[in-house]
Amino acid sequence: MSENERTASRTAVLVCQGRAVADGRAAVGRFADPVAVRLLRAEERTRVDEVRAGTPPQGWQERTAYESVRACAEVVGPRTVAIDEALRAHPTGQLVILGAGLDTRAWRLPELAGTDVWEVDHPASQQDKRARLAEAGPELPTTARSVRFTPVDFAVDDLGAALDAAGHDPAAPTTWLWEGVVPYLTRDQVRATLTALTARTAPGSALVVNYQTPSPKATVGRLLARLLGNSVTAGEPWLSLWKPERMAALLTEYGLHITSDDDLRTLARSLGTPARSRTSLDSGRVAVAERR
Ligand SMILES: C[S@@+](CC[C@H](N)C(=O)[O-])C[C@H]1O[C@@H](n2cnc3c(N)ncnc32)[C@H](O)[C@@H]1O
Repeated sequence: MSENERTASRTAVLVCQGRAVADGRAAVGRFADPVAVRLLRAEERTRVDEVRAGTPPQGWQERTAYESVRACAEVVGPRTVAIDEALRAHPTGQLVILGAGLDTRAWRLPELAGTDVWEVDHPASQQDKRARLAEAGPELPTTARSVRFTPVDFAVDDLGAALDAAGHDPAAPTTWLWEGVVPYLTRDQVRATLTALTARTAPGSALVVNYQTPSPKATVGRLLARLLGNSVTAGEPWLSLWKPERMAALLTEYGLHITSDDDLRTLARSLGTPARSRTSLDSGRVAVAERR
């Protein structure tokens, strides 16, 4: 299968399941995602229900999938809070979500009422999301001013041309969100994406980026999950991991000024959310950078 022919992202579903598990449980008052469960299919919801009930299924494969969703819920709680708060702090009127997956912000954040949202994603993943939204029906209205679906494969397509065609204004400030995507891109693809986005990043813009730092434990964990039959992470291998100092140097090179860069374990601790999945929490980070 070539890059362009690949199927919809399964890690996007996993992250959505994590948010559905965490909804109403973790960091109540700071985190809520009642929309996530509505984008899941019956079998995917069953796993969410099992994790919420704390009743693991029988069988290796089922148990591995259960543990992935449980661990993911611990990671996405603090990650979502950090990102939602960064978006609230940078209300520019244009929000571009890169690798949007089953992101629910345009359907759950009232603060986006005056914001146009571009959901950029691989064509296969975006088609899958649109089918899920259609299944959820008209009773799932958007809370954003508009949502424009913009299919882009970062490995081959021209992000700038796609955003031009979708009506994004490069001269006006933009808030960029890049959550859970950087590890799935090569270093060259990360650079190409930054080149395209910083060419349309007016002063007053901000980039919120979630990335993974190198972690031998996390790499071994993914390998083990793969051996135990977890096809979700096996199908979407990590291609680039960044130490904080390398990410800082990269963003600085592209004219962005980092205002914060926190690891998810520190965020989880400050929120009092569960932190059994230490390795994932330690290696995941959320950075905010501004163009001044
Ligand atoms: C782990 S999911 C994260 C989804 C969402 N940002 C979130 O945090 O819920 C990874 C996303 O990156 C997207 N992605 C990975 N490689 C891509 C590529 N080459 N071009 C476009 N999107 C890509 C996938 O389609 C998927 O939606």
